[in-house]
Amino acid sequence: MSKATRRPLVAGNWKMHGNRADAARIVGELLTRGAGAGHAEVIVCPPFVHLADVRRQLDGSRIGLGAQDVCAEEAGAHTGEISAAMLADVGCRYVIVGHSERRALYGEDDELVVRKFVAARRHALTPILCVGETHVERERDETKVVILRQLDAVLAAAGIAAFATAVVAYEPVWAIGTGLTASPEQAQEVHALIRGRIEEKDDTISASLRVLYGGSVKAGNASELFAMPDVDGGLIGGASLKADEFASICAAAER
Ligand code: PGA
Repeated sequence: MSKATRRPLVAGNWKMHGNRADAARIVGELLTRGAGAGHAEVIVCPPFVHLADVRRQLDGSRIGLGAQDVCAEEAGAHTGEISAAMLADVGCRYVIVGHSERRALYGEDDELVVRKFVAARRHALTPILCVGETHVERERDETKVVILRQLDAVLAAAGIAAFATAVVAYEPVWAIGTGLTASPEQAQEVHALIRGRIEEKDDTISASLRVLYGGSVKAGNASELFAMPDVDGGLIGGASLKADEFASICAAAER
């Protein structure tokens, strides 16, 4: 299975931005601009409190819904947390796990990320597993080691079969929200590394696995990134808050 047979995916990660009116406006503009109407799959990942409103607004459209995080636990006394069952119930199909901001600012380690990945799948949510190296790690030539450590932690605990219904996002930490983007060649190198690791375990799953790039993707650089053989779309932060820009990125994934 080659790149052409993998359906491109563009996911907007709104992070902690926007009130209800902003959410409604962004979604309204995306629908007007026809985002999600093509071959590429388009999803938005609003803050938890907007999920139900956005789900309603998306009803009847082909834009999907994802969450930005999930609790590793099933249910119970976990004040402030949101379970995978709740996300599924409100209409999410995807959930981001292991985003570098969760890892760096909220102390999430590989072990917790694995548990979130497993919790998501238990409720038929597709995890978007984020992996990525920091600037210091890249300078030290540790990119490969870091990416494989993050990926292997999930592979070891969840098993290769879990990747048949998962997405991986390569997000170099130094490129997130910084305006610095990995070059298409830098991205391709790491995407090939990720797919190669999966291929060592199962070549059918590796051929169908979608690997997204994230880190300062904009309308101006999306096409060249998405053209790389192992880049199957993007996880978009800042640019996903601007409907026109995000719609252009979605269009770039069609080609
Ligand atoms: P950015 O964020 O597009 O603003 O760099 C990407 C992400 O954090 O998912």
